[in-house]
Amino acid sequence: MSEKKPYYITTPIYYPSDNLHIGHTYCTVMADAVARYKRLQGYDVMFLTGTDEHGQKIQKKAEAVGVTPQQYVDNIVDGIKKLWATMEISYDDFIRTTEERHVKRVQEIFMKMYEKGDIYKSEYEGWYCTPCESFWTETQAVDGKCPDCGRPVEKAKEEAYFFKLSKYQDKLIELFETNPEFLQPESRRKEMLSFAKQGLADLCISRSSFDWGIPVPIDPKHVIYVWLDALTNYITALGYPDEPEKYNKYWPADVHLVGKEIVRFHSIIWPAMLMSADLPLPKKVLGHGWILFDGGKMSKSKGNVVDPVKLIERYGVDALKYVLLREFTFGQDGNFTNEIMLNRMNYDLSNDLGNLVSRTVSMIEKYCGGIVPGAGAEEGPDAELKALAAAVPGKVDKAMEDFAFQVALEEIWTLIRRTNKYIDETAPWVLAKSEETKARLDAVMHNLAESLRLVSVLIQPFMHTTTTRMREQLGLGTADPAWEDLNAFDVMGGQQVKKGEALFPRLDVAKELEELEAIHQAQLAANEAPAEPVKEYAPIKPDIEFEDFEKIDLRVGQILEAKKHPKADKLLIFQVKMGSEVRQIISGVAQSFKPEDCVGQKVVIVANLKPRKLRGEESFGMLLFGENGERLEFVETKAPDGETVG
Ligand code: MSP
Repeated sequence: MSEKKPYYITTPIYYPSDNLHIGHTYCTVMADAVARYKRLQGYDVMFLTGTDEHGQKIQKKAEAVGVTPQQYVDNIVDGIKKLWATMEISYDDFIRTTEERHVKRVQEIFMKMYEKGDIYKSEYEGWYCTPCESFWTETQAVDGKCPDCGRPVEKAKEEAYFFKLSKYQDKLIELFETNPEFLQPESRRKEMLSFAKQGLADLCISRSSFDWGIPVPIDPKHVIYVWLDALTNYITALGYPDEPEKYNKYWPADVHLVGKEIVRFHSIIWPAMLMSADLPLPKKVLGHGWILFDGGKMSKSKGNVVDPVKLIERYGVDALKYVLLREFTFGQDGNFTNEIMLNRMNYDLSNDLGNLVSRTVSMIEKYCGGIVPGAGAEEGPDAELKALAAAVPGKVDKAMEDFAFQVALEEIWTLIRRTNKYIDETAPWVLAKSEETKARLDAVMHNLAESLRLVSVLIQPFMHTTTTRMREQLGLGTADPAWEDLNAFDVMGGQQVKKGEALFPRLDVAKELEELEAIHQAQLAANEAPAEPVKEYAPIKPDIEFEDFEKIDLRVGQILEAKKHPKADKLLIFQVKMGSEVRQIISGVAQSFKPEDCVGQKVVIVANLKPRKLRGEESFGMLLFGENGERLEFVETKAPDGETVG
């Protein structure tokens, strides 16, 4: 047997700074469709996704809610993995940039580039916000203000490592000019070509003003720039450089699927890094457009974020995937509205496909005792139906080669619609009236079942659950279909059909729109308080052993002093007396208490929590509060400070 051909596809690795919305799912749904399509065709597919977990933004988010960056990302990544499970995303590996396997490999790749002479130490100059300890670029620091806290920024320099991106400028220009396939769509290729021609400056690839990142191996007070860290995921996940088996099999990637705003990183910085490390370039970088909501960008602050989970709960995962793949043209931005989605579901899924399946199965039950007849003599519109059925797979294949999901689905739907028309043309209910036309009736039923069998194979990469449900109704068993199943039109005969539930029940659009709006408003209300995941870290927790509980040293304390943290709006710094000892403890409670109201209050302290730094200030221990809705309350006690709480 010949070896299966490898195929490697990737999505960007997502920032776990917040939960993902429907815009993020778009790329993953496309990549999933390609991965399933290639598997159907017999490829040995490697489909990679993951999360990009380092960087100052994440560190700040975590500090603001008083947890470590690792705890912060662990929580969000859990949610992302659950989302992909709900959406039945068939990834083969999920890489997290905080994983040991990634960290050590990034450092090795950094060293390769360093040893090549492509990394040097110099000074980075930018706009610095002292309270936030952050550097900003000219464009970020609008009107000389810090985009985070709004305070004035000043010019400052820091020592940093640079990558000789300029050295690769000519090679990149040559790449864009001589290999147009490398970067698509064409508009992006032209954009990047002209960007490279304007001159590429060397790239600052280390930071020392924060520490949530991978240490520079030769100088660990610096961390590696988050994009350098993130881009390497595409090879570290394959085991490069220390476990090269998978790497040798799948690299270079067949395609990196990315959003349009990160094409520059993937088509300029990433190839230059690979050139520096003497590694082959990916075969293709594909930039897709954005899903807009009512014509605008989706954002939490605008309150127009569409939660995919709510839609899946209501309409099923296949309906959502279908709309995402059918409605938008690859490479272009597209507008998403509930109305567009519901109409697609009604017209394409319920009317065209759902009806065809239910009519066909009902007729085979009624006219043929539930058994699919074998092929009969060809008559009337049969030849046209068969010719179309034979032509569609090739057209789908061509569309998929171009990542034109919309076109691929349109092609499949021409067969579905033609088959519906075939029922009207052949009028089986008339054929059923006479014994003389029984043979023709059987042939028609056979052709309908055949056509649906082919549709069930063709839609498998896009809507695999629907494929299974269709095949169950058609009596085709549970074995996975293969692309070769599309080669013939006369394989059915003898299968026992079984009518099932409607594949896509018809929706009352006006009613659904109202209900979706109500769900959205309820979500907005729930989100009104800033969506900081403080609470999410305090779910009902699993049972622990008594010995584990005994390890916690709970004490009574009394607050002597309280003040705002100079670098974080949500944190208060307390001086807390515990018997003869006074401790500094930082707590993310500034939204619940004014500092002056805290002085004199008794508190319960987790006294043996290891000291840690929160935005530059030491905190030793943790204060416990009661949660009263959004607000926190002191847990009252009359016991003297320093006493244990047991
Ligand atoms: N972490 C980087 C990627 C590193 S890859 C080495 C990143 N993460 S992100 O979470 O901000 O974005 C991930 C992807 O989601 C991007 O490709 C982006 O284009 C995509 N989308 C985010 N919102 C989107 C829409 N509304 N519509 C379509 N895709 C969008 O960038």
